[in-house]
Amino acid sequence: MSGSILDYNTVELDKNDNSVIIIDQTLLPGKTELIRLRTAQEIWDAIYLLKVRGAPAIGVTAAFGMYVISVSLFEEIKKDIASGKLFGEDAPERFKKEFEEKKEFINSSRPTAVNLSWALKRMDEALKAALPDDGTGKDGGVSSGAALLEKAVAALYDEAAAIQNEDIETCRKLGEYGLSLIKKGDGILTHCNAGQLATSRYGTATSPIYLGYEKGYDLKVYADETRPLLQGARLTAYELQSAGVDVTLICDNMAYSVMKKGLINAVFVGCDRVAANGDVANKIGTGGVATIAKRFNIPFYVCAPTSTIDLNTPCGDDIKIEQRPADEVTEMWYERRMAPDGVKVYNPAFDVTDNEYISAIITEYGIAYPPYDVSLKNILEIKKKG
Ligand code: MRU
Repeated sequence: MSGSILDYNTVELDKNDNSVIIIDQTLLPGKTELIRLRTAQEIWDAIYLLKVRGAPAIGVTAAFGMYVISVSLFEEIKKDIASGKLFGEDAPERFKKEFEEKKEFINSSRPTAVNLSWALKRMDEALKAALPDDGTGKDGGVSSGAALLEKAVAALYDEAAAIQNEDIETCRKLGEYGLSLIKKGDGILTHCNAGQLATSRYGTATSPIYLGYEKGYDLKVYADETRPLLQGARLTAYELQSAGVDVTLICDNMAYSVMKKGLINAVFVGCDRVAANGDVANKIGTGGVATIAKRFNIPFYVCAPTSTIDLNTPCGDDIKIEQRPADEVTEMWYERRMAPDGVKVYNPAFDVTDNEYISAIITEYGIAYPPYDVSLKNILEIKKKG
C-alpha cells in the first residue's frame, strides 16, 4: 500500500464483492492493511477489537454491515424459495427475524457511542418502511415475497449510503463552525482520535484543524498519546503529520504542563454520546483535560455530530461506560508485560466530562452554549426544520 493514510476511506462498501472494507486501525501507523468484513461476527469483532473505531465510523460500519448481511440473507432466502424449502409469502417474515437478530448482535459490540445504535435504528426504520407488517410494498401494492425483499435490500443500501454521505457533510460543517472559534497561530490540544480515521472524512475535532491548515492558519497542534490504546499517538499524530499539520505528541500527563506554559489556546475533542444536559462521554482522560483547561481559562470545545446527541439520556451518570480487558493496560503495545502478574486493573474506555467544563458543543447545525438542556434542544429543532 502506498500514499497518505488520508487517501484511504476509513470505511467503504464494495458492492460487487458484498463486503465492507476497513483499514485495520490496530496496525497503524506501522502497517496499512485493508480488511473485508462479510458476516455479523466479523463486523462485531472488528468493532469490539477497535479495528474500526470512533463513534461515526462505527455507525457507518454497522450500517454498511447490515446492508451486506441483508444481501447474503436475501440470496439464501431465494435459494430456499427455489428449492421449495420456503414459501415465497413467508420470505419477508424470515428476513425481518434474521435482520433483527443480526442487528441486535452488532449493537452489542460496544455500548458507549450512541452512533452504533443510532445507525442500526435508521437501518431498521428503512427496513420497516420498505417491508411493512401488513405485507404490502412501500407503494401499498402486494407483490411476491422475493420482489418485496429486493426492494427492501435496495432501500437498505440507500440508507447506509445516506448515513455515510451525511457523515462527510457533517464533519465538513463542524470544521467551519470550529474554525470560527480559533485564531491564526493558535495552539490546539486534542485527545484520542476524533480524526478522519474515526469518521468518513475530515474527522470531527480535527476538521477545524484541517480546514485551518488549508487556509494557512499555522496552528500548532498537541496530540495526547491517549493511554491505554494510544489512539492519539498511533492515529491522530499519524494522520495530522501525514497531512502536513504541525503536530507535537505529548503523554497524557503532560497536558497540565503545556497549558501552564501558555502553549494551548483551545482544546478540541470528539464525543461518543452527549446527554440531554450537555454532559459528554468521550475517551478516558477527556474529563481530566477539561478540568485542567478550566484551571487555565482555556476554552474546551466538544465537536458533536447531532447523531451523538442523545436526549433520551438525561445526564452523564446514565451513560453506560465500556470496561475493557486488563491486558490493554498491562501488556498491549509493550514488548513484555509492564505490570506485576495478578495486579488488579481498572480499565474504563470512556469518561464523562461534566457540562460545566465545556465551553461549547459544536454541531453541524451550529454551536451550542450553556445552558445545554436548552441549546441542544434548539439545535435539534433547527435540524428537524431542515
Ligand atoms: O475507543 P475509541 O477509539 O472508539 O474512542 C474514540 C473516541 O473517544 C472519539 O473521541 C469519539 O468516538 C469521537 S470520534 C469522531
